[in-house]
Amino acid sequence: MSGEAALGTPALVTAAWAEIARLAATQRADGSPPSSIRPLFAAAPDRFARFSRRLDGLLLDFSKTAIDDRVLAALLELARVQDVAGQRAAMAAGQAINATERRAVLHLALRAAPGEAYHQRGADGVIQPVATSVAETLARMRAFCAAVHGGTLRSPSGERFTDVVNIGIGGSDLGPAMVTRALWTPGAPLRAHYLANVDAHAWAALAPRLDPRRTLVLIASKTFTTQETMANAALVRDWLRAALGPDPALPLAALSTNLDAAAAFGIAPAHVFPFADWVGGRFSLWSTIGLSIALALGWEAFAALLEGARAMDAHFLAAPEEANLPLLLALVELWHVNGLGYPARAVLPYDERLARLTAHLQQLEMESLGKRVTLTGAALTRASGPVVFGEPGTNAQHSFMQLLHQGTTPVPCDILLVRAPDHAYAENHRMLLANGLAQAEALLRGKDAEAVRAEMAAAGASEAEITRLLPHKIFPGDRPSVTLILPRLSPFTLGQLVALYEHKVFCLGALWDINAFDQWGVELGKQLCGPLLAALAPGAPMTVGHDGSTAGLLRALQEG
Ligand code: F6P
Repeated sequence: MSGEAALGTPALVTAAWAEIARLAATQRADGSPPSSIRPLFAAAPDRFARFSRRLDGLLLDFSKTAIDDRVLAALLELARVQDVAGQRAAMAAGQAINATERRAVLHLALRAAPGEAYHQRGADGVIQPVATSVAETLARMRAFCAAVHGGTLRSPSGERFTDVVNIGIGGSDLGPAMVTRALWTPGAPLRAHYLANVDAHAWAALAPRLDPRRTLVLIASKTFTTQETMANAALVRDWLRAALGPDPALPLAALSTNLDAAAAFGIAPAHVFPFADWVGGRFSLWSTIGLSIALALGWEAFAALLEGARAMDAHFLAAPEEANLPLLLALVELWHVNGLGYPARAVLPYDERLARLTAHLQQLEMESLGKRVTLTGAALTRASGPVVFGEPGTNAQHSFMQLLHQGTTPVPCDILLVRAPDHAYAENHRMLLANGLAQAEALLRGKDAEAVRAEMAAAGASEAEITRLLPHKIFPGDRPSVTLILPRLSPFTLGQLVALYEHKVFCLGALWDINAFDQWGVELGKQLCGPLLAALAPGAPMTVGHDGSTAGLLRALQEG
């Protein structure tokens, strides 16, 4: 293979993709199809050891996929010639790798160790250090938390705060909401609530549970222009005013890059917590957008979350390709999407506390990887990000797992297990773990006609009954899953886990040659919402220019 200088050249990249396609289309030497997994276990008793990796207490097992030595080598070769390592270095060096928005991508800097030097290198070539502003902002957040927790910062009515409401949507909601849901326990400093949807049923349900004299409100918005967030912020500000009197002493804080808009909304400068435009919304829970986490769980928990992410960053930046967890996770996905043509992936956390993880990953992965053109704007010739969906186990088993076991298209799963629980009900936890393992084993093992027949005969079924039910009771098996085990769910391990997926997304963006850091696809709906909002106003004239369906639906809504 050619040397370093040739990395990224079209011929090498084309050859690497061709090898992946060839392996995905060719029967193995033993005659098994390239998507089958069971023969790989039969052939290699040490398969688990060879296709799993450990990092600290974290275990990643991808042996229940159809990846064998040759496929792994081909995938790693693609990563090499696509220069994932070089692209990773460019990100860490603060280059403007988010080319369409001309921005650096530096969420790593938000969780850097003190003294670690990250720089922003703009499209104009100007290099600026970012560590100082990150450290200063963290110090301000910490002091703010200490004041709230210590009771030196109180509501204008003199009460101590018991609740924090985070008003934000997308990345300004999902990450913090997921983390506090995962780690909050009774006795934590504050209760946290998340208001995202412009549907005021959310606020109508939340407001009666809150006392405006004890509630601190955070307006979390990178742009401070997002329709839903600004509408909800206005509602909640009115609610505070009604109870506490007018501005400026209202217990409001802003988490944003748009300092002018925050000031115009009436937030006192001391309560504006900035972050930079090199923090993408879906990567922002580590920034001031995470303030609700620190307020609800305590500063130590937030610091440990950052530390966990930092540990994963260090691994991602330094570990060799074949041991690099984020890269391996990305390569497994690429094999499933591009090699085997699987269009979706299920995320199944076997931990109720991680109930919002899938929602967070949906934004992280689908907003990042749902792209149809390359970095240079050329049409992609192969599939990019899959549909991501999921629910906590065991609930998922009683809803959509039927399709995963017996539907027509395999859906790879991420099965997340936490070895030690934080409750005293050991028997339930054993059931939970057994269920997670059983799903992965069932997807892999399947059940053939012979086994179904033997089982039914042993249960006394007649031949006619066996014949009638046989096809319905067969499981094809050979359905892939990746299992991740965390030793325990803690701020540190959750930080590691989320950063693992963030870096997986980075790798896939690099492998697919797409910009994983913009999101132009959310804009058109926002644009079209403006005229429709006007058209729905009472007494508004019928607007023209809509398709027949939208015009008909508008009329139907106006009729009532
Ligand atoms: O509409 C999508 C989006 O821009 C996300 O990328 C972002 O996380 C979310 O909206 C919220 O944006 P903001 O933080 O600017 O309110």
